[in-house]
Amino acid sequence: MSKNIKSKVIVITGASSGLGEETARLLAGLGANLVLGARRIDKLEKLAIDLKLDSRAVLKMDVTQRVQVQALVDRAIEIYGRIDVIINNAGLMPSSMLDKLKVDEWDSMIDVNIKGVLYGIAAALPYMQKQKSGQIINVSSVAGHKVGPGGAVYAGTKWAVRAISEGLRQEVKPWNIRTTIVSPGAIATELTNTITDEDIAKGMAKTYESALSASSFANVVAFAISQPQEIDINEIVFRPTVQSY
Ligand SMILES: NC(=O)c1ccc[n+]([C@@H]2O[C@H](COP(=O)([O-])OP(=O)(O)OC[C@H]3O[C@@H](n4cnc5c(N)ncnc54)[C@H](OP(=O)(O)O)[C@@H]3O)[C@@H](O)[C@H]2O)c1
Repeated sequence: MSKNIKSKVIVITGASSGLGEETARLLAGLGANLVLGARRIDKLEKLAIDLKLDSRAVLKMDVTQRVQVQALVDRAIEIYGRIDVIINNAGLMPSSMLDKLKVDEWDSMIDVNIKGVLYGIAAALPYMQKQKSGQIINVSSVAGHKVGPGGAVYAGTKWAVRAISEGLRQEVKPWNIRTTIVSPGAIATELTNTITDEDIAKGMAKTYESALSASSFANVVAFAISQPQEIDINEIVFRPTVQSY
């Protein structure tokens, strides 16, 4: 698997915990050159030490700020002169029933889960077009395929990620750029900590009893990156075997 991963320059947003962190660990072990972003720089700095990364390879950034996403991608160019993969992974899931009117949380999900992904595309695409190569991996969810009570806004954002990614896929053919959507089911991370609706939190805790470990996601991402250039893995959906929705 490391054959097509070794020495690739890979940018990951939301690498301070959960899926992003685990993916960074796996890809570093496979010889990738990483540039990692998130708001909690202390966690990124610890990870950089663990993974023996260049100290410039971690950046405090907020994906809701376009200039900060651009700075993350520009950092990859400054250090390595190119960008082979961006994983637009940062996300939030403060799910709630709509009638709770948690409008600020709706806004945050739209800003992080949709606009954050768009800013990642905006930052990386011009470099990838110039290189005539690259891979843009956007993290959606099973919730990008199915919606249930309490999940309307989160699912809406993850549906949007799939729509944007499919449009992107069709547009970037002339530049040899690959696009991948990864849509996981329940995986044990910090994601559910953002839920403030107590009823939803209880239900979610039940669902997450059978959550997978983050390595499941990291392996899927590594699989998509490791394919030969002519193979474009466009979407992977996976869940715990016992997850019914
Ligand atoms: N876990 C699951 O069951 C599951 C299932 C389907 C899809 N997903 C998706 O997987 C992705 C990763 O989530 P996770 O499960 O790994 O949860 P997590 O452990 O909570 O990680 C979320 C990451 O996103 C970062 N982040 C959040 N807001 C940010 C912002 N404004 N700017 C920059 N970084 C930000 C966090 O870092 P900071 O707080 O340090 O900024 C953290 O590194 C999300 O898009 C999520 O929707 C997860």
